[in-house]
Amino acid sequence: MIKIKIITGSTRPGRFNIQPAEWIYEVAKKRQNIEVEFLDLVKINLPFLDEAISASQHKYSQPHTLEWARIIGEADGFVWVTPEYNHSYSPALKNAIDFLYAEWNYKPVSFVSYGSLAGGARAVEHLRGVAGELKMYDLREQILLSNYWENLDENGKYKFNERHEQMANQILDSLTFWAEKMKAAREEM
Ligand SMILES: Cc1cc2nc3c(=O)[nH]c(=O)nc-3n(C[C@H](O)[C@H](O)[C@H](O)COP(=O)(O)O)c2cc1C
Repeated sequence: MIKIKIITGSTRPGRFNIQPAEWIYEVAKKRQNIEVEFLDLVKINLPFLDEAISASQHKYSQPHTLEWARIIGEADGFVWVTPEYNHSYSPALKNAIDFLYAEWNYKPVSFVSYGSLAGGARAVEHLRGVAGELKMYDLREQILLSNYWENLDENGKYKFNERHEQMANQILDSLTFWAEKMKAAREEM
C-alpha cells in the first residue's frame, strides 16, 4: 500500500499549522488505497542540523537522523504543510528537509500553505525549488488559505468547506497516482 506522510511545517506555540495539517490528515484517512501518517515536527524534535557530512553522501551518524531517515525512507509521497515567514517557508521545515537526501528522492510532494493575501504562495514557490534539488516531483495541485484569520469560527477553528475538501481530494488523487508510478520507478532503478 502507498504510504503518504503529512508533515507540519511550524513548531511555534499556538501555531495555526496544526489545523490544516490535521484537517488534510483526516481527509486522507478516509481513503482506502493509501496509508497515511501524521508527522509533527514538534514531536519529531530534531535539533538544528548536526551532521558533519552532507546528507547527499548518505553517511548519517546521529541516532535522530537515522530515525528520521527511517520514517521518511518508508514514505512514497508527502504533503508539506507550510506557513509563510518573511516571504518564504519556515526554518523548522527546511531543517527537517536538510537532514536527509536519498529518502526524499523520486517521490511526489504537494503543499498546503496559508498566510495573508498570498496564502503562503511565496513559501510554496521556494519549496518547489528545494523539491527540485531533492529530485522530488512537486505537484501542481496545492491548497492556499489566504487571510486565514478571516475564516475562523468563534473558537478560532478554521472553517474548512466542501470546496477545500474537493481540493484536498485532487491533491490526494494526484499524489497517489504519482506515488505509485514513482515507487515502481524507484524499484526499477
Ligand atoms: C516570522 C514571521 C514572519 C511572517 N511573515 C509572513 C509573510 O511573509 N507572509 C504572510 O502571509 N504571513 C507572514 N506571517 C504571518 C503568518 O502567516 C501567521 O503568523 C501564521 O499564523 C504563521 O503560521 P504558524 O502559526 O503556523 O506558525 C509571518 C509570521 C511570522 C511569525
